Amino acid sequence: MRDETLVPAREGADSPFLRESAGRFRNRRVRVPDEINLKNCGLLDSRAAAVHRATLAEFDPNDVLTYPILQPVYGMLADRFGVDTDSLVLTAGSDPGLNLLTRAFPEVSRIVLHQPNFDGWAKFAAISGCVLDPVAPDPETGLFDLRDLARRLRAGAPAFVVVTTPHSFTGQVHGREELAELADAVAEHGSLLVVDTAYLAFTEGGEELVRGLAGLRHVVRVNTFSKSYGLSGARIAVTVAHPATARHLFDLDPEGSVSAPAVALLRRSLEEQAVFTAIWADVRRLRERFAAEVERAVPGWHARPSGGNFVTWDVPGPADAGAASRHLLDQGIVVRDLSGAPGLPAAVRIAVANDAVVRQAVAALGDRYREGVA
Ligand SMILES: Cc1ncc(COP(=O)(O)O)c(C=O)c1O
Repeated sequence: MRDETLVPAREGADSPFLRESAGRFRNRRVRVPDEINLKNCGLLDSRAAAVHRATLAEFDPNDVLTYPILQPVYGMLADRFGVDTDSLVLTAGSDPGLNLLTRAFPEVSRIVLHQPNFDGWAKFAAISGCVLDPVAPDPETGLFDLRDLARRLRAGAPAFVVVTTPHSFTGQVHGREELAELADAVAEHGSLLVVDTAYLAFTEGGEELVRGLAGLRHVVRVNTFSKSYGLSGARIAVTVAHPATARHLFDLDPEGSVSAPAVALLRRSLEEQAVFTAIWADVRRLRERFAAEVERAVPGWHARPSGGNFVTWDVPGPADAGAASRHLLDQGIVVRDLSGAPGLPAAVRIAVANDAVVRQAVAALGDRYREGVA
């Protein structure tokens, strides 16, 4: 006899599971021998690698026979950020942290942010059904102004407001007062300010600039350890939020994909803070030298002031940016051609790795210029 309670199976093309998809986020990276990746701004420093090598050598495999223990690292992070542990949410990289934030508040459908910005935002907007409300830099100066974000915010309903400081394309750093002013405007509007500090470790006095935001009800800080501690491959980050906001993320099980090896790598990195503090100081020094040496070697290239572990040069034209990027690629150095992004008509971004790599990049760019390719 037929069970009348069963819904008849849908057939063929009617099934939602037979829909076609491009699968566009599959990771297709391959390792190219001897290639130096200065595009993703990882921390390419042998001292960082030595710290991680020691952690992995001593890692007890018993620690992967069971689920990870997170409380000790939460304690260290609470000290580091000057907040209680119930303000902290560990995630497997900051991508899932940002993604969870947009999913935790489904009633919010707008993300106000400077454009260009980290690609992830377009992805999280699509996943969570939000629209991006992009704000361009000042056309005269090419600089981002936080007051423009506040103005755009007031034109609509409560939204996520994103600030990346230092900015991941240009290295622009926002000051304490302008951040505090924006935070006030966001609170008044009933919105949520998301401050992405992926590169802040490389800004002199960077922590001081954001300290006043910690603990505010309408502010969330997303802090990856990918760049600052050389842990891109480990996938680990922390979100610092008011405990009431953090609880919304815990409703979605943010820690489920955080692994014990990633936690061990982060714990040891925090214990070895002196090593990383020295690396960050070296990166800052090297960044200024790199900026100046390229300006000398390639007339027409102008470095923007940067608080990140990279330098962005405005260059004479997009063709020059493309040709220089290709020339560097021929030498095994991968860089990011930013030309065409809002406020960046022709620009190249190159990460600051270490002394030897900086020399190699300056020499390659100088040779190309002298050979009259420009
Ligand atoms: C500004 C910014 N935020 C976040 C991320 C992503 O960090 P994670 O590796 O933790 O996912 C990146 C990576 O490039 C970035 O540039």
